[in-house]
Amino acid sequence: MCGIVAYIGDQRPGPILFDTLKRLEYRGYDSAGVAVKSDGNIEVLKSAGRIADLEKIYQMRGSPGESMGIGHTRWATHGRPSDINAHPHTSGEIAIVHNGIIENYLELRDHLTEMGYQFSSETDSEVLAHLIHFYYKKDLLEATIKALEHVEGSYALAVLAASSPYLVCARKDSPLVLGQGKSAFYLASDVPALLPYTRDVIRMKDGEIARVYADRVEMLDAGGMPRAVEIERITWDADAAEKGGYTHFMLKEIHEQPRAIRETIAGRISEIDGEVRLDLGMSDEEIRGLERVSIIACGTSYHAGMLAKNLFARAAGLPVDVEVASEFINLQIRPRTLLLGITQSGETADTLLALKKAKTCGGRSLAITNVVGSTVTGLVDGTIYTRCGPEIGVAATKTFTSQLVAIILLAIKLGRAREHLTPDQARKMLIELTKLPGLVQRVLEKREEIRKIAESYAHAGCYFFIGRDYLYPISLEGALKMKEIAYIPSEGYAGGELKHGPLALITEKTPVVALATCGRKIQSNIKEVRARGADVVALATEGDPDIAKVASRIIELPGTRPIYSAVLCTVAVQLLAYYTANKLGLPIDKPRNLAKCVTVE
Ligand code: F6R
Repeated sequence: MCGIVAYIGDQRPGPILFDTLKRLEYRGYDSAGVAVKSDGNIEVLKSAGRIADLEKIYQMRGSPGESMGIGHTRWATHGRPSDINAHPHTSGEIAIVHNGIIENYLELRDHLTEMGYQFSSETDSEVLAHLIHFYYKKDLLEATIKALEHVEGSYALAVLAASSPYLVCARKDSPLVLGQGKSAFYLASDVPALLPYTRDVIRMKDGEIARVYADRVEMLDAGGMPRAVEIERITWDADAAEKGGYTHFMLKEIHEQPRAIRETIAGRISEIDGEVRLDLGMSDEEIRGLERVSIIACGTSYHAGMLAKNLFARAAGLPVDVEVASEFINLQIRPRTLLLGITQSGETADTLLALKKAKTCGGRSLAITNVVGSTVTGLVDGTIYTRCGPEIGVAATKTFTSQLVAIILLAIKLGRAREHLTPDQARKMLIELTKLPGLVQRVLEKREEIRKIAESYAHAGCYFFIGRDYLYPISLEGALKMKEIAYIPSEGYAGGELKHGPLALITEKTPVVALATCGRKIQSNIKEVRARGADVVALATEGDPDIAKVASRIIELPGTRPIYSAVLCTVAVQLLAYYTANKLGLPIDKPRNLAKCVTVE
């Protein structure tokens, strides 16, 4: 997975390309490169490593380039991170940057080699440069169209030719957005990268290809027909995509959760009537006819799906199966199954593929996503947007809690339509839901207390997170956060399962975080690990009279109903992982080996 950018206009392209690329680094950052038009030629600069280092080399070379250029930040899929595998790839006067996977690249490579083309990289993308070069006579658009006719796979692509007065870009199954400036057009894999330059964007759709001049764009749809360009005005400001005074995007995004939750709820509920308004693309009669729900997701979004399992069963009387997308087999999908894909980016390849597979079995489909117009939205009958604004930190935080809230709204909606919840029950749940942002704010105010605890265990060799019921998925989420940003091996476990094996790992050196805000049963699990010498940090409800008798340290959280306390515990474990990683001096927003959006299977 990678990020691509391009610029055409009356400015020098280099500084704009580097700036927009840095805003896309969350998509991958093992190597980077730019190609700019300079004195009628193409000048390419690329290397393994960070964009900022490459920018210094560019400046040392006298910042070449005029009027147009393309750029790329890479996350290796085919071929290791190296100078040679970094994009742009060139062929004669053609340079390309590509995000996606060319599935038939080996076949194309053999063909092109027979025709005399020499390959200098191990990437799948290089075939695109040679193919376009092969077809390029005078018209770069025509050459790109002809080249793409031979390509199987996914792409967001930008093409530059020394003798062409315009750029070409195209997309299929990988995101791509154009931004219209004053006598300039910008291109990027997502909107936040463009915001310092323009708020007028054109979202490219699957199969589209465009000829981009400094003052206009000619867009062809998937059928090759010209389509009118629709400009969308972005209302959130560039600041929303900046750190806003926090040391890391992750910390900023953790603190944005009260607002993000409010946005997820806004305009969708009537507490007075106990009603939830969501456009699911399904009538109440269809909802009543449902026999089960099948949820598909990856990583943190999968944990949201696990919470939905217990909630949908209780609130709507619906059996639910939840599967990690990469392990999906469609045994349970029947025409009366509601298929639910959960993906904050809307672009996770495993989730998209599993949804496509599952949809062939019939039935209605829904997505919960944060990204408007993302690929998942084109696959399903209805979408619930979480409306969190862009999330830049690689670790999902505000998008996860907003997914939980979207799931709660959906559960109430299903429960009311199926008359499994009475209006009064729904009303009470909704009234409490409106208080959730304020409760999350109170957890955030405990940041200093949590920081001290985190720092005291920062050198632990291994962490355990335990929980039951709604808090079991949150224990998995706590362990995932600790692994991905603090690099500490961590286990999330159902409290009752400890004695069936993992208890053997518990020693006095293993901090155990017990999510203890729901029910008393977890207290016996706390006793089990205390008896093996472990320190236990309990997340407990304010005023719990018993917890002090069993836990070593306590973080008190506001009292609320169990499903909402899952959100509060999430915020506490996010802060715990954050302050641990911060104490260890780790690159929190860009953990090693990870990327924000995983567009490869
Ligand atoms: C962890 C994290 C990942 C994502 C996963 C799915 O903090 O962010 O585990 O949750 O890659 O991504 P989406 O939700 O975009 O499908």
